Amino acid sequence: MDSCIQNEKYVEDAEIERQLSFALEVKRHLSSDSRFSDSAPKYYIQTLGCQQNEADSERIAGLCRLMGYEETEDPASANIIFVNTCAIREHAEIRAISFIGEYKHIKDNDPSVIIGVGGCMVTQDHRSDKFKNSIPYVNFVFDTGSIHKIPELVLSSLQGQKRKFLTEKDFRIAEGIPSYRKNAHTAWLSIMYGCNNFCSYCIVPYVRGRERSRRSADVIEEAKKLIDSGAKDITLLGQNVNSYGKDTGEGVDFADLMRMICRIDGNFRLRFMTSHPKDASDKLIEAMAEEEKIAKHFHLPVQSGSDAILKKMNRHYDIEKYMSVIEKLKASVPDVSITSDIIVAFPGETEEDFEKTLSLVEEVRFDALFSFIYSPRIGTPAADMSDQIPKEVSRERFARLMDIVNPISLERNTRFVGRTLRALAEEQGKNDPRQITFRADSPRPIHVYADKNMIGNFADIKITKAETFSMNGEIV
Ligand code: 5AD
Ligand code: SF4
Repeated sequence: MDSCIQNEKYVEDAEIERQLSFALEVKRHLSSDSRFSDSAPKYYIQTLGCQQNEADSERIAGLCRLMGYEETEDPASANIIFVNTCAIREHAEIRAISFIGEYKHIKDNDPSVIIGVGGCMVTQDHRSDKFKNSIPYVNFVFDTGSIHKIPELVLSSLQGQKRKFLTEKDFRIAEGIPSYRKNAHTAWLSIMYGCNNFCSYCIVPYVRGRERSRRSADVIEEAKKLIDSGAKDITLLGQNVNSYGKDTGEGVDFADLMRMICRIDGNFRLRFMTSHPKDASDKLIEAMAEEEKIAKHFHLPVQSGSDAILKKMNRHYDIEKYMSVIEKLKASVPDVSITSDIIVAFPGETEEDFEKTLSLVEEVRFDALFSFIYSPRIGTPAADMSDQIPKEVSRERFARLMDIVNPISLERNTRFVGRTLRALAEEQGKNDPRQITFRADSPRPIHVYADKNMIGNFADIKITKAETFSMNGEIV
């Protein structure tokens, strides 16, 4: 019975094999095209949204390479363009639509260019209908459960078949799809997909389906491969990692999984996101305290400082419970960096509710806070609440929150000044190419003048200066 339930969560092996053979057919098709006799066809992927989307785009890239495409950084030189959309807030949807409009001009110049749109935005029916009915230059649309079917979609476009719309929302786990990660030393590793929580403002459960966890053996195998190929910083991904394993029947929960990954030989650091406060367990905090390889950073979205608003948000915890987790965390993991998400101006938020959020932020003193103005999402309960907050009020509250948050971030970063932190050299500096961006356990970047060949290695960095969003340091 258990194995039966287990298998229903997975796309059948035969279907994965079918798609991989379509990928090879695409490759044959492209190699017989004289336009590509001198240079390989090119793919371009525009990714919006969260880390989960980044990880999905790595799978799209893996499939593109299997089909014989090479990456280009310039959409105008691409033969196939993917837009991996986000739906978390209106702003993300507006950006996606604007990118897609830009790519139309590229297709106007070369009608053979294929445009495919996937991700959370088009997993909503009202959006996919719009593409079907009024955006004819998009060749195909695929929901978040159909990424593994990209080879079939590309083949049918190349063969000049009708436009296709895969929006059946068949959310299952597809193992065996290659991922292509641009950067060998930092990696996303999805351990589960979907969400069961239905927070009243959130579109995620509707566009990513119910919670499903990967088998621990599959996760461990992928982690081993990543570490063997040079990954030094691995982030385990899921909408609510604390409930990992509830559906696998293996008896391996998230803390167990983290400890199993820590047992893999190698010099690497483990991170995770995101956690739900209602499920943050003592066992997980203990694992963080005891396991050297787990970064001492906890992202614990609180969303609001008011119990009344948390209730309307359907969050299933109150501030007393949230603070008890924070206190345990601070007591058990010395020097832990804590970050959070907050939604400003949720429907019905009074001035008093908002002030409770400000006091909570003052009390916890987050290392970093990601704040968002509430954005109504069609189909979620909060969008139909009658007491929506006017724009002027939300903007004013958002600005007041920032005034409190930024000095706290600076204060938190200042605690590191004069200390030496073990940090990974991640990439060349974006503002100053003579600098390398390092990262220690805290999520804040550390800018250091260093040689490019340090990238991908850990080093001891003495922190010389703290800013609000970053630090400066020097190699010890
Ligand atoms: N409006 C504003 N912010 C939202 N988030 C999720 N849904 C919405 C919405 N409708 C925020 C939450 C979540 C983060 C990823 O995005 O704070 O933790
Ligand atoms: Fe959205 Fe809540 Fe699920 Fe997070 S836990 S993805 S906020 S429904």
